[in-house]
Amino acid sequence: MGSLEGRAAMVTGGAAGIGRASARALAREGAAVLVADIAAERGEAVAAEIRAAGGRAEFRACDVTRAEEVEAAVAACEAAFGGLDVLHNNAAYLLGEGDGGITELTLEGWERAFAVNARGVMLGCKYAVPAMRRRGGGSIVNTSSGSALAGDITLTAYGASKGAVNTLTLYVAAQHGKQGIRCNAVAPGLIKTEGVRQGMSPERIQRIEAHTLTPRSGEPEDIAEMVAFLASDAAAFVTGQVISVDGGIGSHMPTYADGPAGA
Ligand SMILES: NC(=O)c1ccc[n+]([C@@H]2O[C@H](COP(=O)([O-])OP(=O)(O)OC[C@H]3O[C@@H](n4cnc5c(N)ncnc54)[C@H](O)[C@@H]3O)[C@@H](O)[C@H]2O)c1
Repeated sequence: MGSLEGRAAMVTGGAAGIGRASARALAREGAAVLVADIAAERGEAVAAEIRAAGGRAEFRACDVTRAEEVEAAVAACEAAFGGLDVLHNNAAYLLGEGDGGITELTLEGWERAFAVNARGVMLGCKYAVPAMRRRGGGSIVNTSSGSALAGDITLTAYGASKGAVNTLTLYVAAQHGKQGIRCNAVAPGLIKTEGVRQGMSPERIQRIEAHTLTPRSGEPEDIAEMVAFLASDAAAFVTGQVISVDGGIGSHMPTYADGPAGA
């Protein structure tokens, strides 16, 4: 029996990359999954694939920047599956348009990063919490980023918006822990999803990989397994945490990659 048997979950940005892997992992553990995304065709395909594998899943078109759409998606999850127990707040804007160093970023780039990455997560929490209270508890997992945990030369708006995600995680955990609602964040290292391949140069990807301590790169499933754990009762005493799943890129001396790799 899976660790999420009888639970209902919603995954934003569930049509691709990390969200798709998370939807699959939550379904494998027995949860019914609402895949919420702006990409209808790919989102429908993820839900269909889960159903074909014997799971329960529906797709719901949802732009996480729009309050009424997030509220409606939560309501759709309750209508389809009888409630909401798990929310993976995962959708984000990764293309970095209008983002960069502090002197280069545009106001539009800043606003876009915050609208999707921070407002989207805030709205997910805002509408999921009442639904979880109706169930007597639940687990929210926000996708943060290693970009929120250290300074970098670019993607300032993205990093700052993920910093907001980390702080929101603490506030939701503090406000609703006694109601049985846990809230944690997962901070991935580099995962070469479609979003990353489109938004990052091969040189930058190479530089990041030189700093990853593991022999292989990260896969969406590496993040999905942590999401499934945090969603489950096995993580009943884990809340208010930002957990890095990053191949150790955030755990070593800045000079690491200057020497021979693995020395
Ligand atoms: N891939 C990485 O290396 C990496 C590293 C750190 C953090 N993250 C975070 O992981 C999460 C997933 O990233 P990914 O690499 O899988 O990205 P991705 O681009 O492959 O997938 C993102 C999904 O979000 C959807 N989406 C975008 N805007 C949306 C909106 N407004 N409303 C609803 N859905 C929307 C897209 O349609 C897409 O299906 C993001 O929060 C990202 O910031 C990724």
